[in-house]
Amino acid sequence: MALRNIVKFGDDVLRKKCREVTAFDDKLWVLLDDMYETMNEANGVGLAAPQVGILRRVVVIDVGEGPIELINPVITSVKGKQREVEGCLSSPGQWGYVVRPAKVKVTAMNRYGKEFKIEGTELLARALCHEIDHLNGVVFTDLADEMVEPEE
Ligand code: CO
Repeated sequence: MALRNIVKFGDDVLRKKCREVTAFDDKLWVLLDDMYETMNEANGVGLAAPQVGILRRVVVIDVGEGPIELINPVITSVKGKQREVEGCLSSPGQWGYVVRPAKVKVTAMNRYGKEFKIEGTELLARALCHEIDHLNGVVFTDLADEMVEPEE
């Protein structure tokens, strides 16, 4: 495994729509393993492939309940609302309030191409939405209704 550089806000790669994964091969597995390592090293709860410069629909998440990998994820249902402070590994030190669904259901594939479904509430719902947004070129500051002033 290897650490990858995290692309920062302002880079065009974060504004592109990512393509679906079609090959569930060792190149994908290396990418996933590198993304986990890069996310953990940065103390993040989620990372999307465009954040390491790869325009593919690949996400890793760990909100403290174990690692989750999502290939070609699709949000199939949303319910309710939550408004919490959110940040992004591509914009260290920047935080803002974003309204997200209280509960989301997602269908995705694992690294072997097997489909699975996952439901999230609270932080997991937020992470699922935030990371899937990255695959569509959307970053949290596009959606934030209020930014948090940095503390002195
Ligand atoms: Co992010």
